[in-house]
Amino acid sequence: MTQASECKDSRQRTGQPWNDMHSEALESMSSQQGDMRGMGSMLSKASQVFILTDENVAPFWLPEVAYWLRCDPAVDIIIKAGEEHKNLQTVQRIWKTLLKHHADRNALLINLGGGVITDLGGFAASTYKRGIKFINIPTTLLAMVDAAIGGKTGIDFGGGKNQIGTFAEAEEVIVDPVFLSTLPRRELLSGMAEMLKYGFIADANLLNTSLENYQDYILRCGEIKREIVAQDPTEKGLRKILNFGHTLGHAIESHCLTTDHPMMHGEAVALGMVATLWLSVEQCGLDKRVLKEYEMQLPVLLSEAEMNLTKSDVEPILSYLALDKKNKGKKPQFVLLEAVGKPIWDVEVEPKLVSDAMDYTINKVSSL
Ligand SMILES: NC(=O)c1ccc[n+]([C@@H]2O[C@H](COP(=O)([O-])OP(=O)(O)OC[C@H]3O[C@@H](n4cnc5c(N)ncnc54)[C@H](O)[C@@H]3O)[C@@H](O)[C@H]2O)c1
Ligand SMILES: [Zn+2]
Repeated sequence: MTQASECKDSRQRTGQPWNDMHSEALESMSSQQGDMRGMGSMLSKASQVFILTDENVAPFWLPEVAYWLRCDPAVDIIIKAGEEHKNLQTVQRIWKTLLKHHADRNALLINLGGGVITDLGGFAASTYKRGIKFINIPTTLLAMVDAAIGGKTGIDFGGGKNQIGTFAEAEEVIVDPVFLSTLPRRELLSGMAEMLKYGFIADANLLNTSLENYQDYILRCGEIKREIVAQDPTEKGLRKILNFGHTLGHAIESHCLTTDHPMMHGEAVALGMVATLWLSVEQCGLDKRVLKEYEMQLPVLLSEAEMNLTKSDVEPILSYLALDKKNKGKKPQFVLLEAVGKPIWDVEVEPKLVSDAMDYTINKVSSL
């Protein structure tokens, strides 16, 4: 991994698990109970235990987790689901609940949910009385492989995402695919795109991730993220490779939010990775077969996406690149690949080439 020099069955949530993991899920519960009991000492040292979750996760998992943890009586804090609640108002609600229950510095907050919960809860915990301990129990694939790991916490503020936050590590991150048995398929596919990202930047084996085997690779993704974060905790250099596919992915996501067809984060990243692989072929000599093989996964990855992108979307998408806080000066900066597992960061790309990459991507996905 190097810094650039000048290199060029869409079932909806029904109240029942949607997929066939449930029997496995039940089996895995016993091991989960084991893991959770292993946390016994941390829980018993805590003066009080609080469980933060959202209204979608609570009915499925809150009673089970409270039972596994044997942490009755824990105080439950159930918030509304969705990114729009990852804000200061919700944090205030959490702080107020902690205060109301006289939580002291030895209180423990358990964040049970997706990335919104782990970001919010981590932030609330790391700031309450200058910081109390917290544990993340991620329940979305994206949170298991990304959001719950690495110590970045935060909330949206002033119209921007993650504008306020802290670096604070969870005491533990408990990952168990059992939680994914209730996750809508679109969310699952969105998380799978992030798993493929780790494949491109660090481990070719992960490029085999599919709906059939993704559970086998979850821990490996977390390991990769931890290794990268350990080497560059505050994103001075290497950590930027975690943004592979995200420069254009974020621009696509932001643009689509203004249309009738918003894309999920992972879906936009899936498209961002097409464009970024194309740029890597053009500018860094990446073997074209890497792009072609990835394209074969798109029909599944994007099977739940409601896409309606045409050539006329390219210009507005590119206008978001100018707003990217990672850009120095005018030219957008990218993480590109020389080969699978050999990313380079801070690569400047000519705007015309970026525009060609987006044209290529939109052409490709409109034929799906
Ligand atoms: N801190 C980091 O390093 C980092 C990294 C990546 C993303 N993030 C943040 O993560 C957030 C996105 O996370 P997300 O994709 O997990 O979104 P999310 O937390 O909003 O969860 C997605 C949806 O799934 C529901 N859900 C969660 N688990 C469920 C389950 N097991 N069964 C049924 N429904 C379930 C939630 O209620 C929500 O409606 C963003 O705010 C993003 O900024 C943070
Ligand atoms: Zn992402």
